[in-house]
This record gives sequence, C-alpha cells and structure tokens, in this order.
Amino acid sequence: MSRPTELWTSWQSLARKVRSNRIWRNPLMRYVALALAAALMMIAALSPLASVMVEGWSQRDLELRARLVFRSIRDQVATGMAADLDPQLVPRFERLAEDERILALGYCTAKGELRYSTRLLPKAVTCRTVQRNKSDTFVTVRDGDARIHVSAFPITTGTTSGHLLVLHDLSYIDVRSGEARLYAMLALIGVATGLGLLATAIVLGLMRTWARSIHNAIVEVQAGSGVSATLRRSDLPISREVHAVLAEVRLERRFTEGIHVEWSPRTLHLLLQEELPGAEVLVVSNREPYIHNHENGAIKLQIPASGLVAALEPVMRACGGVWIAHGSGSADRETVDRNDRLRVPPSSPTYTLRRIWLTEEEQEGYYYGLANEGLWPLCHIAFVRPVFREADWDHYVRINERFADAVVAEATTDAPIVLVQDYHFALLPRMIRKRLPKATVIAFWHIPWPNSETFSICPWREEIIDGLLGSTILGFHTQFHCNNFLEAADRFMESRIDREFASVTLGGHETLVRPYPISIEWPPAALADQAPVTACREAVRERFSLSAETRIAVGIERFDYTKGILDRIRAIDDLLTRDADWRGKLVFIQAAAPTRSKLDAYSTLQAEAMQLAEEVNARHGNDGYKPILLNIRHHDPAEVFELFRAADICIVSSLHDGMNLVAKEFVAARDDEHGILVLSSFAGASRELGEALIVNPYDTRGMANALRTALNMSADEQRDRMRLMRDLVRQRNVYRWAAQMLLDAARLRRRETIAAADRS
Ligand code: G6P
Repeated sequence: MSRPTELWTSWQSLARKVRSNRIWRNPLMRYVALALAAALMMIAALSPLASVMVEGWSQRDLELRARLVFRSIRDQVATGMAADLDPQLVPRFERLAEDERILALGYCTAKGELRYSTRLLPKAVTCRTVQRNKSDTFVTVRDGDARIHVSAFPITTGTTSGHLLVLHDLSYIDVRSGEARLYAMLALIGVATGLGLLATAIVLGLMRTWARSIHNAIVEVQAGSGVSATLRRSDLPISREVHAVLAEVRLERRFTEGIHVEWSPRTLHLLLQEELPGAEVLVVSNREPYIHNHENGAIKLQIPASGLVAALEPVMRACGGVWIAHGSGSADRETVDRNDRLRVPPSSPTYTLRRIWLTEEEQEGYYYGLANEGLWPLCHIAFVRPVFREADWDHYVRINERFADAVVAEATTDAPIVLVQDYHFALLPRMIRKRLPKATVIAFWHIPWPNSETFSICPWREEIIDGLLGSTILGFHTQFHCNNFLEAADRFMESRIDREFASVTLGGHETLVRPYPISIEWPPAALADQAPVTACREAVRERFSLSAETRIAVGIERFDYTKGILDRIRAIDDLLTRDADWRGKLVFIQAAAPTRSKLDAYSTLQAEAMQLAEEVNARHGNDGYKPILLNIRHHDPAEVFELFRAADICIVSSLHDGMNLVAKEFVAARDDEHGILVLSSFAGASRELGEALIVNPYDTRGMANALRTALNMSADEQRDRMRLMRDLVRQRNVYRWAAQMLLDAARLRRRETIAAADRS
C-alpha cells in the first residue's frame, strides 16, 4: 500500500472512531467542540498580529526617543563640527549611551567616515547606509543574533555636513512583543472561554425551554388536548414553532386515524378551528337540552331523559353555536329573551338555545302523531303497529318548515354546518338545501332504519327519503341501518347508489350514508360529584330499605315499549321461580321516566308493567321483601349515576334500539371496575360492548340464565370485562362521534371548493 493511501486509510479509520464515539452524537458536545475549534483558530490568527502591532508601536517609540536625543545634542555636535573636534563631545556621547535603551552614538561625515562614536558601536553599522540621505533615516541592521535599530539625522553647519547616528538595541522589543503575544493569547483565551461559557449557558437554557415545550406538546398530543394558550403566549418563538409543527402532525395523525386520538372538548374544538375555520354550527332537534318548568310556585330546571340530549349537549358545549329546539317546558317562555333565545348551560353558558313554540294541536300532530305513533314504531321492531294519519303528516311538514325558517334566521353565513337530529325532521335537510344551497347539512337518525319491506308501509316513504337526501351526510348508528337505508333509496327513488363509496345521488346532489356510532362524554359530568361506590351502595340500600347482603340489579330508562321492561321483569320472575335461593337476596330496581304518556301504547305499557311487578312481588316477596321496585318518575343525572354505582347488575334489554346510551353510561359510572352489564343483542351498543352478557330479550329463560351467571361472576372476571368496555367507551366517546362527522364534512367542503374553482 502506498504512503498516501496508507495515510488516507488511517485518517478514515480515525474519523470513523471519532464519529462512532457516542459523545459526538450529543449535539451539545458537537457544539462545544465546534466553539473550541473556532476559538483556537481565532487565537492562532490574532496572536501574530499582536506582535506586529507591538513591534510597530515600539519602533515608532524608538524613533521618537532617537529624535529627542538628537535634538538635545544637535547644537553641541554642530559646534564640534565647526571646531572640527570638540573634546566634550565624546564623553557626552558616552553619558547619553548610558541610557539602557541607547546602545551607541556616532557621527558620520559627509564623506561617509565615522568620526566620533561611543565604545559599543557595532562593526556591522557603517556610515554607507546613510551617506547620501538628506532626511532622517531609520533602518534595522543585524549584528549576529542581535537586531540594531539605527536612526540617522542629517546635520549641517556652514559648509560642513554629516549625520548623527543613534543606535538602539531591539532585543527588548522582541521581549516585549513576546510578552504582548502571550498576554494577547491569554486575553483571547479568557474572552473566548467567557463567550463560550455564556453561549453554552444560553444554548443550555434554550435547549431546556425547547425540551420543555416539546415535552408539553407531546403530553398534549398524548392527552389529545389542544395547544395550550398560555404556552403559545409565553414561550419563545421557536417553541411556538415546535408547537405549531406538532399541532400539525397531531392534527394530521389524529384526523386521519381518528381512533388514536383521545377525543375531548379541546380536541373537538381544535378540529373545528383547523378543519372548518370560521364555520358556524347550528343544531336542530325536537327535544331541548334544558327545560324550564313551573313547580310548586318556582321555576325548576330539568335535564330531559334523552339519549340525544346526553350525546349532543357536551358536543355543543365544546363547539358553541346555536341549538334550535321545541320549547316544551311550562316556564320556557318566561326564561327566554325577545328573540326566544337564552344562553346555556345556565351555570356557565357556552352556546345559545333558540326555542321554537308549538301549539297543542301542532304537537299532537307532528310529535305524538306522525313522529311517535307513525315513525317510531315503524323504525323499531317492537310489534307495535304504526299509525299514519294525513292530518299528522300535514303538521309534520309545517313544523319542519318552521324549523327551516329558524335555521335560515339563525344562520349568519350562507354556508353554516347544520346538524339535523332524528326522525322528527326527515324533511328538514331538503328544505335547508333549497334555501341555503351552500350549507353543510349533517342529518343523524338516532333510531334504527327498518328493512325496505317494513319501510314500504309508510305512505310518505318517498317524501321522507327525498327529504333526508337533501343532506350532505346522513348518519346511522350501525352499518346495518345504513344498508337498510341504501336499500330503501334504491327501491323507492330514481337515484344512483354507489355502494363502494356508500352514497346516494339524487337530482345531481350526492349524500354520503355512513355509520357513526354515538356515545357519551368521557368522563361523564354526572360522575364528578359522586361518592365512592360503597357510599352509593349504602345510600341506595338505605333509600330502598335493603339489607347489606341484598344484590341489586337496575334498569334505568324512559318508560318505552322498545326497552323490554316487561321482558326483564319476566326474566327475574323466571330466575326466582327456578332458583328460590335468590328470593330475599335479589332486588331489581327499575327507574322509569314517564314519556309520551298521552299515547295508548305507552300508558298500556305502564299499566302492564305495574301489574306484572305486583304479580312477581306477590309470587316471590313477603312483607319485608319485594323483588321488583318500580320507580316511575324523572331521575336527574346524579341520581341515575348513584344507582349505576350501587348496582351489581345493569339490565339493558331493548327489543330494538339504535344505540342505547344507558349501557355506555353504566360502564362509565363504574370507575371501581365492577358490575355486570346484561345487554340486548338488538341494541346498537351490543356491537361495541362485546364483554357484556349479551342476551335475547325475547328469550326469557336465556335472560334469566344470564342473570344467574352475572350473580355468580367472580370479581376478577367482572374487572376484566369492565376494563375492556371502559377503554372502548373512553376512546369512542361522543367527541369522536361528532369529530368523525365533522371531518367527513370538512373533506366534502374542501372537495366542493375545488370543484367550484374548476367550474369558474
Ligand atoms: C329517543 C329519540 C330522541 C328523543 C329521546 C327522548 O332517544 O331518538 O330523539 O329525544 O328518545 O324522547 P322524547 O320523545 O322524550 O324526546
């Protein structure tokens, strides 16, 4: 191997070793090494400069001194020249040369002869160098190792002329410039070290701030929260950039992978800001989130028992906007302003509730008639015959129009996002589309959609499908209900169905038909003030006079025939009949909120349930023990959560249900990770909560067996099942539900903007 190749190879291997050393992977160490190298280069460049400067300055000093010497003896030299020889001159020269800096003095004649000189005048200095110069001359002459500085001054008297030589030994300058170089080097090292330390301190400070910012941003990413406003304000610009970059990454990751996001009011709010900037949100539902009623001479606030309200209210708190709903409370008119509006939630307002007034007759036709005697039983398989009356339909159309008027009146832009809720407003999407063509209408059908055979019995099936196809997006809880709708659109409308993209195009307008499983807020607000589970259990036992050993099963919902309330009472009956050991040890508390009681199907159900409870109690109870405790009244969220926390078992035995949020609320209430959910396979929730004991409510024996399994389930198994369900409800909370629809809407809005630009 040749020498250069060898050298190159060794250099490369050295470089590799240095590079592979972990210390250099630390950016701070690399920075310090770079700073040191820069300082050394600076020192190497500046120290010779110091010598040059000292030398120049010393030489000028010497010239000045030489001139002073010359001036002090010029006259005497002139006199000596005139007399040709002044005996005083040489001793005077010698005295002057005693000055430690002056090496020697001499006088050269015009002919270049050295006439007078002191003893130490070196031989190397001759008069030839200055012979013909007419002005002051300064030269440096080498004498062996020494350097001699020669100053020659011309002097003339009469016809005689010559030069006075003043010689200085330059060795002291060498010493001085050496010293100067040393001091300069020390000073530069000092300054460089100081600057280096200062810079390191600044860099460390900045790095710590950046690290904190990055850490905070990552924590926010993990927590799924938005960028902290305080951090944005107080941090350095770079940390704001870090936040911005992370926010972008976070948004992209979140919004494309939905499930990985810890959805919360903050992330939902952020999504609106980032994906739908400036968009105004309007919600339309029949049921209002806050009802004011007259009660015992005072106005009392009621939060209705409604899955829709439980889901939508937290979303509106996060998004802000206007919620348009029927003002159904007896004191509702007294609590609004001139424009029928009020800010809610009453404790800390974040959005506006706009109330719409209906006459008794309108409510009879639109709400009780078409919506609840017609569409409700049509969409639920509960074997209650739907009733369709022409007059009810007319009311339904008119009330939908009234809500459309309200949407147009409340919208402050021509492209609001309107979230139309449920079967009360099947016609509203089309009406809004006609009046606000640029609006993004997201309709959500909170109840099941029947198969097309069943749906075909509705006399206004085409109008209903047409109305819904005015929306931009139409959502159901499950894919199954989406499929049923697509089937109905295919069968009854002249539309184009794209099954791959899950959309229906009618009259040139395309509607996406997608499943968005609804959920609850996490953590539920009602959980915040709850006592520990043991305290809730004690309170409930005391309220219902139950012994400490009694096992408690609960059912909590509106008193609706779709909920399978009779069926669960029958299952308890069956269990106590076959397993008499449980008599006296098991009670079933049914909290049932009266609902739509004017309708026969509902009043009949209530009567039947009371009758059945009495029979079962008579069969298995005694004076001090009733296995079925029917509680028919409205329960506020705190009471509901106390019951959930006190229960060993929660029974959700819907005959048919879009989702059923009671099941999710029970899971959310059990932060002790205990309790068993018995859940109907006909509730949408059973698609997600697979760790519940899934039952068929029509199968009394099967449900009784499931109850027995629940009563015997070990604490470990309960915890394992509950943990999985809690994880799912936490992740797939209601903010995610809203976010997924809003994200799809944002995508469609962007697509529409691009298409509009193409057209123009
Ligand atoms: C179901 C419907 C909702 C309704 C709720 C309460 O969950 O899907 O739209 O709000 O029941 O019913 P109500 O008739 O009392 O409003």
